[in-house]
Amino acid sequence: MRDIETLKKENMNLADKIYIFDTTLRDGEQTPGVALTVDEKIQIAQKLNNLGVDKIEVGFPASSKGEIESAKKIKDLNLDSTIVGLSRSLNVDVDCVLDADLDYIHTFIGTSPLHRDYKLNMSKSQIINRAIETVEYAKDHGLTVEFSAEDATRTERNFLFDVFGEVISAGADFIDIPDTVGILTPIVTHELITDIKNNFHVPVSVHFHNDFGLATANTLTAIECGANQAHVTVNGLGERTGNCSLEELVMTLKSAYDIDLGLDTTRFYSLSNLVGRLTGVKMPVNKPIVGDNAFAHESGIHVHGILNNSYTYEPISPEMVGHSRRIVLGKHTGANALKSKLKEYHIDLNDEQFYKVFNEIKSLGDSGKCVTDDDLVAIAITELSSARETPIVIKGLSISMGANVSPTATVKLEIDGVEEETASTGVGPVDAALNAIGDLINDTLNIELEEYNLEAINGGTDALADVFVICSDPNGNKSTGRSINQDIVMASILAVLDSINKLLLINRTE
Ligand code: KIV
Ligand code: ZN
Repeated sequence: MRDIETLKKENMNLADKIYIFDTTLRDGEQTPGVALTVDEKIQIAQKLNNLGVDKIEVGFPASSKGEIESAKKIKDLNLDSTIVGLSRSLNVDVDCVLDADLDYIHTFIGTSPLHRDYKLNMSKSQIINRAIETVEYAKDHGLTVEFSAEDATRTERNFLFDVFGEVISAGADFIDIPDTVGILTPIVTHELITDIKNNFHVPVSVHFHNDFGLATANTLTAIECGANQAHVTVNGLGERTGNCSLEELVMTLKSAYDIDLGLDTTRFYSLSNLVGRLTGVKMPVNKPIVGDNAFAHESGIHVHGILNNSYTYEPISPEMVGHSRRIVLGKHTGANALKSKLKEYHIDLNDEQFYKVFNEIKSLGDSGKCVTDDDLVAIAITELSSARETPIVIKGLSISMGANVSPTATVKLEIDGVEEETASTGVGPVDAALNAIGDLINDTLNIELEEYNLEAINGGTDALADVFVICSDPNGNKSTGRSINQDIVMASILAVLDSINKLLLINRTE
């Protein structure tokens, strides 16, 4: 294990303390289509606090009365995390942060030529003056001030340094470098942050967007170069493609750098789900750390490794982030995975039954299906029940249907070794087939179909039909039957025959 001191020797310039500044409730809420109520913001802020983030940016108080109200309510909770409000470089915006009773302001002004010329229509000196004025005003009102040079990464370096120099002289406590449109790469980040650290002696914060998928990598690079604080969001939410993801950054620091920021990482998965639910932004299955597939395995080789030692194919344990491991069955499934799944469900199959189930799962996988645990249990149970003595066996089925005529089912059964066939109509093909079975077996045993349940597994037009039935006989015996088949009529017939065969066996032993 390498500690911070060793890492420092390895050409890194890590700060002694790295602050996590969460902006899920501000930049995250700027995700297109996302709007949180006051109560929802409170719920998320409490969870972020319990996780242990240092700062929570709760909104932009000048943007609405609701934003002031929610910021104030969150402040009134007296959380351990510092509560931050965003403001433009305008004294009226600072007043709104003060109205919310906050102690920490994050104030910004665009500094790049694009922002100066096309958004603010201000000269360089006007921008510097406005930035100084706001920082001084906020400091005069007792606020801790973090100053952001919006679009810093597309700002001329000399001008950027002039702005930072001036706001530091005006009292800024933190300077922040927003990569507003996510154009940094790790190597450029390295040069920029090193230069800034060499020239300024206030804590340096970074706020990196993810337009090219590099926000986390760039933030890590900034930390390697001495950045003191990282702006992050839960699930990487934020404007356009989002910000550096909180869980990715913290877990990479913890597992790849051995840097434990002291956060309760076991809360990541539930926090991610809460934020996903409240914002309506669902995570892709392959999202690192919190995605559904982050700890899911299908391939036989991987599952074999995982079952022996989970680190063979997982960099961290799912428990570390409050997630859980999932073994998925499909075309890549190996025998070990299937055995462990069957054990989990206490299903005991002999070798022949096991390989039948194994092959069925493989062929379902080959036909493009992913087999859920429910599917597996149903397939295994069907296999177990088909191993029993079966006085009645289906030998043939044909259905004919046409416009304005009732469907007709022709069913051939072998009853105690003798083949019999009949045709019957019904309101639908399943009804017709079940009527035909009733006609064929009535001489053997008068059976009543008491319950019939049909469920589609997997959805889609090629879904598996899962049929569960309960039949009864005149002696008051009841029995269940179940079958899964790609054809609804066949699944229904097999489920009913499964139940009828059990009833016949009961009657013959009575
Ligand atoms: O991305 C950005 O530039 C911002 C600023 C408000 C800091 O979010
Ligand atoms: Zn941003």
